[in-house]
Amino acid sequence: MVRNTIWIPRRLSDATLERAQASYECIINWDDGLSSADDIVEMSAKVDGIIPCHSELFTAEVAERLDPRLKIVANHSVGVDHCDIPALKARGITVTNTPDVLSDATAEIAMLLMLGAARRAVEGDRLVRTGAWDVWSPSFMVGKQVTGARLGIIGMGRVGRAFAEKARGFGMDVHYFNRTRLTPEMEQGASYHSDIESVLSVSDFLSLHCPATPETIALMNADRFALLPDGAVVVNTARGALVDEAALLDALETGKLSAAGLDCFVTEPGGNPAFASHDNIFMLPHIGSATVQTRDAMGFRALDNLDAFFRNETPKDEL
Ligand code: DGY
Repeated sequence: MVRNTIWIPRRLSDATLERAQASYECIINWDDGLSSADDIVEMSAKVDGIIPCHSELFTAEVAERLDPRLKIVANHSVGVDHCDIPALKARGITVTNTPDVLSDATAEIAMLLMLGAARRAVEGDRLVRTGAWDVWSPSFMVGKQVTGARLGIIGMGRVGRAFAEKARGFGMDVHYFNRTRLTPEMEQGASYHSDIESVLSVSDFLSLHCPATPETIALMNADRFALLPDGAVVVNTARGALVDEAALLDALETGKLSAAGLDCFVTEPGGNPAFASHDNIFMLPHIGSATVQTRDAMGFRALDNLDAFFRNETPKDEL
């Protein structure tokens, strides 16, 4: 039987690559470098499916140029802001993503960022690491406590709910904004706010968990930072585009915010060099889903979607 050919443009987990090679003719980018629009277009003529990550950009321009051989873009990501889905669909290309499987890992990173930002992890680590720690006093490195504090969550999808669950374990009072109110079983006691402004006003800690769409770009702007309680901590593990980074810096420099924890940036890879001199910004390089267990699960979910598609079934995660 003729096997379908797929392109894997990034170094996915070993287990994923092993399973992919057992089922498909695979062209694997072992170098793991980024692919340009021209690379994507060129590869589309050689394969039936692609398993891209959020680093491969399927813009409308790229979609327009894709070869008709390409039938499915089976993303290895839950976020799909790197894909112009209407443009891909207009070319008859099926698009899938990998929801559910990365919720806990991403919520763990949100918790790490929240705690690290609140308890001054960047400063503390540097003091000990450099041997500059030469004093202790009750007024030394005092931070902000999460236990009993109010946590605002914007976007109560799978990751938002996983984070809320972990935050409840820390005794936090959870508030949320979501386009639609959750059922009481899903809310688990969290307080619903029907508009973003209302949830901001009670967010001693704020965590973003919504997708980047034209409506949510720069959702956190100067006006909205101003609505947070003084000394609030902002956490972003969703997408950099949700935050106006200049407004965030301003809010940190004026003391409106006490700290921020960021796993996502407007420019990736790279981040924002203007953040580097601010010890109250605890940063990670977009590693929310980076655990062995989760990366295997993401790869397997993408392959499940491909397998279903090539069996002429509707993939579970078709968008
Ligand atoms: C996602 O799945 O969207 C994560 O950001 C990793 O790509």
